[in-house]
Amino acid sequence: MAERIPPDSQFDNLNGRSVVTLDDVSTSQISYLLRKARFISNHLPEVSQAAAGKILATLFYEPSTRTRLSFETAMLRLGGHVIGFSSAQNASVSKGESISDTVKTVSNYADVVAIRHPKEGAALVAAHAASIPVINAGDGGHMHPTQTLADLATLQSRFGRITDLTVGLCGDLTFGRTVHSLIETLCRFGNVRFILISPKELRTPQYVLDRITASESCSYEEVSDLTSVIGDLDALYMTRVQKERFFNEDDYLRLRDTYILDMEKLALAKPTMAVLHPLPRVTEISTDVDNDPRAAYFEQVRNGMLMRMALMSSVVGITLPGFAEDRPQEVQA
Ligand code: NCD
Repeated sequence: MAERIPPDSQFDNLNGRSVVTLDDVSTSQISYLLRKARFISNHLPEVSQAAAGKILATLFYEPSTRTRLSFETAMLRLGGHVIGFSSAQNASVSKGESISDTVKTVSNYADVVAIRHPKEGAALVAAHAASIPVINAGDGGHMHPTQTLADLATLQSRFGRITDLTVGLCGDLTFGRTVHSLIETLCRFGNVRFILISPKELRTPQYVLDRITASESCSYEEVSDLTSVIGDLDALYMTRVQKERFFNEDDYLRLRDTYILDMEKLALAKPTMAVLHPLPRVTEISTDVDNDPRAAYFEQVRNGMLMRMALMSSVVGITLPGFAEDRPQEVQA
């Protein structure tokens, strides 16, 4: 199996490592990836052949636009190649093959795997079976570490830091895996006040709340009204109500439009607040918000690609021409 590392270990090299949650990456390595992605952003032509001959396999058992295309573009922009499938119907799982067997097979073809699966824990199973690094591209309602890397890069570029922030997370906090990954990671950097805004049916799972409680410098408040707290926020992370994870269509329809961020609500926010969303959006952000400078969600998309370039180049062990690998691992921009 490709190894996973304990959080915050002194081992500062991602080469050969799998990433099932960002707990597999030390905070100094996350800072390193943020710095590497900024370098890539300014040196796209220089890095365009860095991964020549490397192959990414995208094993997507669940629909995706951004994440799959972002992983694929990231590898192509590093000069590598891509194989894979984009739905379970097109793969041998439809004949009854296990994730482990598929991943053991693909380990013979590729240098790195990105896997998305509707079941929580699928990426961990894949990482155990694989002899190459496996990156979790979303496992059910559990975790989505590379979306968190995109979110961190966006916070970093908007605020120059990923600590000392009041962050509102709004919508489906039960099934939104991007929310779970983001909270888990911000807690490790510390000094974040979380305002968790959801209907009572879609509250944050206990294991995620426990992470906040365990972090000495972070705190949370659970509320159901967005307008009464929006003025306090540095960042507002909107989420889609995760239709595909509901057991009952009526519940989904009842909860879907609980929060709609529009210009009227945005008028109550700080002029510097950043609005993030992992996308896809359904109704939860009105499209006229897109033109407001506070809207950061399309920046997040670009940051996602850059962070995946940084991560994949690291786990496949290639160096980027001109990038200083060993500079101090600062968090600040
Ligand atoms: C998110 C996901 O798949 O969890 N999208 C993404 O990867 N950018 C959020 C969502 O689907 O709502």
